[in-house]
Amino acid sequence: MPSRESIPSGPVFKGRTAIVTGAAHGFGREIAVLFVERGARVLAADVLVDELVETELAMQKAAQYGGAGRIAALDVTDESAVARILSEFVMDVGRIDILVNNAGGVLGQTHKPVEEVTANDWQTIVNVNLTGVFYCIRAAATVMKAQRYGRIVNVSSGAGRSFSLTGIQAYASAKAGQIGLTRQMARELGAFNITVNNVAPGFVRSNPTTERQWNAMGEQAQAELVESISLRRLGTARDIAEAVLFFASDAASWISGQVISVDGGHHMF
Ligand SMILES: NC(=O)c1ccc[n+]([C@@H]2O[C@H](COP(=O)([O-])OP(=O)(O)OC[C@H]3O[C@@H](n4cnc5c(N)ncnc54)[C@H](O)[C@@H]3O)[C@@H](O)[C@H]2O)c1
Repeated sequence: MPSRESIPSGPVFKGRTAIVTGAAHGFGREIAVLFVERGARVLAADVLVDELVETELAMQKAAQYGGAGRIAALDVTDESAVARILSEFVMDVGRIDILVNNAGGVLGQTHKPVEEVTANDWQTIVNVNLTGVFYCIRAAATVMKAQRYGRIVNVSSGAGRSFSLTGIQAYASAKAGQIGLTRQMARELGAFNITVNNVAPGFVRSNPTTERQWNAMGEQAQAELVESISLRRLGTARDIAEAVLFFASDAASWISGQVISVDGGHHMF
């Protein structure tokens, strides 16, 4: 990978405002920091307040071209908290140009045969990966419609386009549902100059769960996974963030309702 310094960047998002959920670490932190680096005023939100502080420090270091970052504790499954945090951001900065729905994951769950999956196992994963996205889009839509501008990017997974490598039924289902929501929202909000797109990452060692999954695989399965990726390498958080920023940019202003797999050519649709 080229280093951050070697990739030309610029004030592509100068004057824009962005909300990134799930920004305490992993992809969300990288997305928030890149937006700030490229000029946006960013709200980085997550349930993990301590780790959010590290995101805040990273955003401060990245500030240039007028970019700036602030943080907020937010559980995306709490609909009134979502409405409150988004409206406070609007009161502060006046607009929501970009919403990145990145919060999600398997919440520490591992595969169980379907007959052992409890309603609670199922519901908690669906709540974060699908219902929380709905709450955030609903709260942002009013603002984006009024300003007649919006870029919404949802982060799904290869699991939502194909199947979950780790066999988690609710995760594959919620991410597939999130892709459906992406398309439906693109259709509904397009008349207001709002695009809605979706990035489907492949396996990236970006969080404690994927790190555990990688270590549990053993050398042979690790080698097979890398071999199944056309580019023969695992991805990085930066790979995912760059795709998100593309959909959020004005370069993508006539692209909506699309899903792009960022997985090194693992799945090809
Ligand atoms: N890493 C991968 O291999 C991979 C692959 C495909 C898709 N994804 C998706 O990418 C996104 C980011 O994953 P990551 O690898 O950076 O993992 P991560 O665990 O580092 O990031 C997910 C973030 O979401 C936050 N979050 C969880 N529940 C929340 C809630 N209710 N409200 C607010 N925030 C909440 C977590 O605290 C965490 O900071 C997730 O949606 C994940 O499903 C990851």
